[in-house]
Amino acid sequence: MSVTKPLPHDAARLHVTGSARYVDDIPSPAGTLHLAFGQSPIAKGRITAMNLDAVKAAPGVMAVMVADDLPFANDVSPSIHDEPLLSDGTVNYVGQPVFLVIAESHLAARKAARLGQIDYVEETPLLTVDEALAADSRFEEGPRIYEKGDAEAAIDAAPRQIEATFEIGGQEHFYLEGQAAMAVPNEGGDMLVHSSTQHPTEIQHKVAEALGVPMHAVRVETRRMGGGFGGKESQGNALAVSCAVAARLTGRTCKMRYDRDDDMVITGKRHEFRISYRVGFDDDGRVQGVSFKHYTRCGWAQDLSLPVADRAMLHSDNAYLLPNARIESHRLKTNTQSATAYRGFGGPQGMVGIERVMDHIAHDLGLDPVEVRKRNYYAAKADALGQDDNSTPYGMQVEDFELHGMTERLLETSNYAARKAAIEEWNAENPIVKKGIAFAPVKFGISFTLTHLNQAGALVHVYQDGSVHLNHGGTEMGQGLFQKVAQVAASRFGIPLDLVKITATDTAKVPNTSATAASSGSDLNGMAVKAACDTIRDRMAEFLAERHQAEVNDVTFSDGNVEIGEARYTFQEAASMAYQGRISLSATGFYKTPKIEWDRIKGHGRPFFYFAYGASITEVAIDTLTGENRILRTDILHDAGASLNPALDIGQVEGGYVQGAGWLTTEELVWDDQGRLRTHAPSTYKIPACSDRPDVFNVALWDEQNREDTIYRSKAVGEPPFMLGISAWLALSNAVAACGDAYPAIDAPATAEEVWARVRRVRDGI
Ligand code: MTE
Ligand code: MOS
Repeated sequence: MSVTKPLPHDAARLHVTGSARYVDDIPSPAGTLHLAFGQSPIAKGRITAMNLDAVKAAPGVMAVMVADDLPFANDVSPSIHDEPLLSDGTVNYVGQPVFLVIAESHLAARKAARLGQIDYVEETPLLTVDEALAADSRFEEGPRIYEKGDAEAAIDAAPRQIEATFEIGGQEHFYLEGQAAMAVPNEGGDMLVHSSTQHPTEIQHKVAEALGVPMHAVRVETRRMGGGFGGKESQGNALAVSCAVAARLTGRTCKMRYDRDDDMVITGKRHEFRISYRVGFDDDGRVQGVSFKHYTRCGWAQDLSLPVADRAMLHSDNAYLLPNARIESHRLKTNTQSATAYRGFGGPQGMVGIERVMDHIAHDLGLDPVEVRKRNYYAAKADALGQDDNSTPYGMQVEDFELHGMTERLLETSNYAARKAAIEEWNAENPIVKKGIAFAPVKFGISFTLTHLNQAGALVHVYQDGSVHLNHGGTEMGQGLFQKVAQVAASRFGIPLDLVKITATDTAKVPNTSATAASSGSDLNGMAVKAACDTIRDRMAEFLAERHQAEVNDVTFSDGNVEIGEARYTFQEAASMAYQGRISLSATGFYKTPKIEWDRIKGHGRPFFYFAYGASITEVAIDTLTGENRILRTDILHDAGASLNPALDIGQVEGGYVQGAGWLTTEELVWDDQGRLRTHAPSTYKIPACSDRPDVFNVALWDEQNREDTIYRSKAVGEPPFMLGISAWLALSNAVAACGDAYPAIDAPATAEEVWARVRRVRDGI
């Protein structure tokens, strides 16, 4: 069977030979025009006058559009229509698109875009969490609160208490392929849009609104993205809509791609959080009550901030049964880029909160942090603690907790105890270079919290030569979704994978799709494809059974053959016979996730179908004189259920860990006091390089299948491993802690500067 095989990515050869086509590689028709935005240089204010004569007169410029030139909707928001494509007279952050240049070349458009003369009345921007709080600038009235038991009373009654506040930075997506779109005007006002997007249906919807046409007049095609990481759930809307309105205006193909600096300045990033916590616990480190306050910097428009902030709240427990918990979430509106989805969708920030609490408790009591974590784990089964409560702060019973077994296995395979002892010895002897080691578990909820998004469709054709053409609503961004889903189709028909053709995602083939997000790509689309394949397979079986006077159940599909009793046909022969017997060899498939219901206002229900688990141990070394540091070794055990493709899944785990560790260590976003992003290129924004990968990197998959009935009992794997990177941050804290008695109270990211400053505090009390 094709599933479970560690096959390479279907486009691996194309990727490494440079022949994989991205939007910018699609041969464009003669006369194609190129677009660029004129951007706001200030963070907040009103436009009083605009002189675009120099822009219009610049070489190669065809036309310039401002908000008033837009024929229909001026809106690219994925949520509440608060995000104009072009400024409506107010500006809300540095980089906001104000006018649109349409020119003969990419360079001509970009050069002309700098020539706009715009007069503004500047207002004082709200840039920071403190400024937004002082002005009560928010997206929802007051904070949202999820609560279990009476946290404050439990904390007060506990033998010990700790409280603290810390900062968690945002993160630039840094997909290798920047945002890009191309719109091709077709006859009768129809529009074909190629978009580097995780959400073709959303692009179709926004383009239709902007053109004043029904959705059927717009077709969106996405073959692949060069990475999305959540940054292409909504941030591609502006480019696609611009291309479509410009193509409508000029009657020519229009294309837009952001230069890297523009991409970093214009588009939203991961949400920054400030987290305050108060926790009450006993002398063994068991939590009696915990209270979190999340202050989330959402930027200027709502975008996906509410569900992101919700998911942060929903992961404030991570792996721990909290008898009493209170989570208060403030969604703050600021004059910065509109923060958006990023791998984990708020989950990582929530999880860092409780992992910080566990680390702090262990330090306070002088206990092994792994031991403290294990004592607070959920029970393996709801009744294993001799009690019924195994519930999260949002009232969902945890029924599939895998971390007890996973933790024991990882402690053993990583040789944790002996290495921890060796590190203590090293630290006792070495005053300059200190080492640290830390363990972090992950429990991540799988499903969109907006329940209706948990659906998917597929379209499968079997041709008369037995080859299979496959479409589903998911998009490919390097994660391997297409290969996994093709393996599902091959397995259903019992045929080799090379008979299955994977084609571009296309809104004309599968309608009304959800974003490829929330890690549910293979769960949802795998099931929809299975349903479509099974429909065709059952029709073929019925036809052959009748012809052979046999039972339908006696027809089998395997090893490229279809067998009925003594008779055996190749799949090709069977397809050809079915065609000649006038059997339909084409079918749609549909799937919706069972068992989920969620009330986000009350904060109660079963938002997740199941949880995906992981555990990691990271060892680091720091130079206490400079703060420089590196990861020496990482061991990971990750739960992908019965993996559809272990090679791709391990790739997701490795990439997720490195991206997560980058977020919490080297990747630092800096805005100046005018609201200008100073880290807008790889020269100043440091993503992990190849050399930052751990020297020793042991990644294994857990061997239990999903307890819920998912596609071949696999588990979603896209986002959960990102949070394994938390152990790198905790390991740095652990190394700093070796410099003295005080708790390091490290912020994120733990850059070299941050590590150095915390060493000074712990060692020298500065
Ligand atoms: N892996 C690669 N190579 N590139 C990506 O852009 N995006 C991540 C994850 N892994 C991403 C990736 C994010 S944010 C999500 S939600 C999932 O992949 C989406 O794909 P899936 O649902 O098929 O796992
Ligand atoms: Mo992923 S942040 O859900 O696109």
